Amino acid sequence: MSTDKDRVNTVTITDNQTGNSIELDIIEPTQGDRIIDIQSLHNKLGLFTYDPGFTVTASCWSKITYLDGEKGELQYRGYPIEQLVEESSFIETAFLLLCGHLPSQSELDEFSVEITKDSLLQEEIKRFFSGFHSNAHPMAIMVGVVGALSAFYHKYLDIHDPINRKDAAKLLIAKMPTIAAWSYRYANGLPFVYPRHDYTYVENFLHMMFDLPTDKYIVDPLIAQALEVIMISHADHEQNASTSTVRLASSSEANPFASVAAGIASLWGPAHGGANEAVIRMLQDMMSSEKSIESYIERAKDKSDSFRLMGFGHRIYKNYDPRAKIIRKLCHRIGSESESALSVENKKLLDMALKLEGMALADEYFIKRKLYPNVDFYSGIIMLSIGIPLNMFTVIFAMARTVGWVSQWNEMMGDDSSKISRPRQCYLGATKRDYIPMDER
Ligand code: ACO
Repeated sequence: MSTDKDRVNTVTITDNQTGNSIELDIIEPTQGDRIIDIQSLHNKLGLFTYDPGFTVTASCWSKITYLDGEKGELQYRGYPIEQLVEESSFIETAFLLLCGHLPSQSELDEFSVEITKDSLLQEEIKRFFSGFHSNAHPMAIMVGVVGALSAFYHKYLDIHDPINRKDAAKLLIAKMPTIAAWSYRYANGLPFVYPRHDYTYVENFLHMMFDLPTDKYIVDPLIAQALEVIMISHADHEQNASTSTVRLASSSEANPFASVAAGIASLWGPAHGGANEAVIRMLQDMMSSEKSIESYIERAKDKSDSFRLMGFGHRIYKNYDPRAKIIRKLCHRIGSESESALSVENKKLLDMALKLEGMALADEYFIKRKLYPNVDFYSGIIMLSIGIPLNMFTVIFAMARTVGWVSQWNEMMGDDSSKISRPRQCYLGATKRDYIPMDER
C-alpha cells in the first residue's frame, strides 16, 4: 500500500513491562478516522493485537465504498447513496462500483448489453437445481449453484489478468438474477423462465420469478422501481461480514465463483443479510401472539435470553442507517401509491413495525446502545408488499451485493501488496503437556 509520507504522522506505543517503545505511522484516509499502521509491531515489540470481530481493525485499503457510522453517511465511489437512489439505475451503479467512475452513455450501453447477453445459464447448470430437495431454501440452492459455476468457467481462472477479472465479475453479475429466480422456481415446483434481452436487469429478474406459461407477467413500473431502489441500497457496504468472507476466501487466490459462494453463505446468517427475513418472521409472530410489543422489547433487553429485536442495531451505524431512511420513505410511498400492493395484512405488518420502531427508539436501553432500525427493518416489508416471498429476501440481497463482492475482489486481486489473510489468535488453551496413555487416564 502506498502511503504519502508528507501526510503521515505517528503514534508511540510503550510496552510497560519491558519499557520498549515503538513509533508507528498513522495513515490518513481520504475520509474517515486515522489508522495506525501496526505491521511492524510484532517485529519490533514482539506483540500482537487482539480485536475479535475486527471492530477497530482495517483489514485492507479500498477506494470503493465509504460509510460514516456516526453521521449516518454512505457513499459509493464518493457519490452519496441518496443521490444514486434518485438519479441512477442498478446497472449504472454496478458499473460505478466495478469500474470506479460514472459511465458515459456508450460505456453504459455496452455494459448493459454485456450483462444482458450473459444472463442465460448453460443448460448443464440447470441440472444442478434438480439435485436439491424440493423444499430446499433458495439461499441453499444459490450457494450450491454459484459455487458450481467455478466448474464451468475455467478460462476465467487467470485472476491476475485485469480483463479476465472484469469478465468474470460481469459474468457473475449477469447470471445472478437467473440463478436467484430459478432457485425460487425450483423450490416451488415451477418451470424455469428464460431471461429476455428487452428487459432491464430488475425487470428481467421479476419476469423470471413470476411469469407463468398460463399467465403472462406484466412488470409493474412501481414494483420494478421499488426493487431497483432496494438493489442500489444493497449493492455494497465496504468490509461487512460477507464481503470480508469473499476477500478472505479469495486471498488464497481461490476461484472467484467459489469465493462468492462463501460470501453468500456468510450473508445468509440472521445477524447479517438474513435479518430481513427474520424481521418479518418476528413481526408475524408478534401479530399472531397474545403478547404485547412491550414484552418483545423486554425480552430483547434481557441478557439471559438470546432474543434480539431483528432489524435493530448495526456494527457501524450508531446514529441511523441512511439506507433505512430511504427504504422507510419507499415503504410509505408503496403504501400510498399502490393500494393493491399493500394488502390489509401487509398494512397491519407495517403499522406494527412503525409502532415497534417508535417504542424501541424511546426506550433507554436502545438509546444508550445507539440501536436504530437498520436497512433490513424496512426492506422486508417492501418486498412482501411487492409480492416477493419471504424466503427470497436474502436471495435478492445476495443478487444486489454480488456487485460489491466482485468489485472488492477485483480491487484486491489488482493490488500487488495484498497478502493471504491469516489472522493471529490469543491462545488460552492448555500449556504443553505429555500424552497420557489410555490406561493411566
Ligand atoms: N436487540 C437487543 N439488543 C441488541 C440488539 C438488538 N437487535 N443489537 C445489539 N444489542 C445490544 C447487545 O446485547 C449489546 O448490549 P450490551 O452492551 O449490554 O452487551 C449491545 O447492544 C451491542 O451489541 P453488539 O452485539 O456488541 O453489537 P455488534 O455491533 O457486534 O452487532 C448486530 C451488530 C449484529 C447488527 C446486532 O445489532 C444485531 O444482532 N442486530 C439484530 C440483527 C440484525 O438486524 N442484523 C442486520 C444488520 S444490517 C445488515 O447486515 C444489512
